[in-house]
Amino acid sequence: MNILLMGLPGAGKGTQSEQIANDYLVVHIATGDIFRQAIKEETPLGLEAKRYTDHGNLVPDEITNGLVRERLSQEDVKANGFMLDGYPRTIQQAKALSENMDSLGSKIDAVIYIDVDPEVLKARLSGRISCGNCGATYHKLYNPPKVEDTCDACGAHEFYQREDDKPEKVAHRINLQMESIQPILEYYEELGLLHRVNGDDSIDQVYNNIRKILG
Ligand code: AP5
Ligand code: MG
Ligand code: ZN
Repeated sequence: MNILLMGLPGAGKGTQSEQIANDYLVVHIATGDIFRQAIKEETPLGLEAKRYTDHGNLVPDEITNGLVRERLSQEDVKANGFMLDGYPRTIQQAKALSENMDSLGSKIDAVIYIDVDPEVLKARLSGRISCGNCGATYHKLYNPPKVEDTCDACGAHEFYQREDDKPEKVAHRINLQMESIQPILEYYEELGLLHRVNGDDSIDQVYNNIRKILG
């Protein structure tokens, strides 16, 4: 199964992805995670991406499309299917992905849009913390680790706040992406692939609704 998970910054893509990947055994591919990893390792991709991600701007399509094309051609993805988190984010990316799927002889099975009130997004991003070891995400109030200061997934004790979660950058990210996401939603709606879920609900409730769509 090949799934796209879409939503504005803080909608819960990463949070829901963890559960979906567990239950459906698809490969989780998050372009934001790939960029953050490359930045941490200071690779050429990371140095280039940092110029954009630090300011909450989108990385240019040529870079992002090339990266995704390469990842989708790998064996684990061909064998298990994928869940893309945070891609496509421009209409050019959506069209590039369609061409890519055609050339791989594959198709997208479902597009899920997690719909959240923009005011709710700000509160979520300002309280988000990420594990410094494995990148699992939590929220100080809404979704804290089960044991204080200990990552549920890997047991590490170091947490950090993302550079682009500082309040002045959060508003910019949300405004920028609200514009670019609309044509993509229309594109998938016309293809009959789009499903909307109410992302204002609790994490478990959102996941229940996603399960109903994926079956
Ligand atoms: P990316 O990492 O994808 O960031 P984003 O889209 O801004 O999304 P987030 O990761 O911030 O939010 P999320 O939806 O995953 O929410 P989460 O589950 O963590 O991209 C980062 C940057 O990389 C971009 O700005 C851009 O520069 C670049 N980039 C990435 N992809 C690109 C592309 N395709 N093209 C160009 N550039 C690209 O949840 C947020 C918080 O809320 C957490 O604390 C969580 O615990 C909490 N929470 C989640 N769900 C709920 C709920 N239902 N109730 C209460 N709390 C909840
Ligand atoms: Mg995320
Ligand atoms: Zn961890």
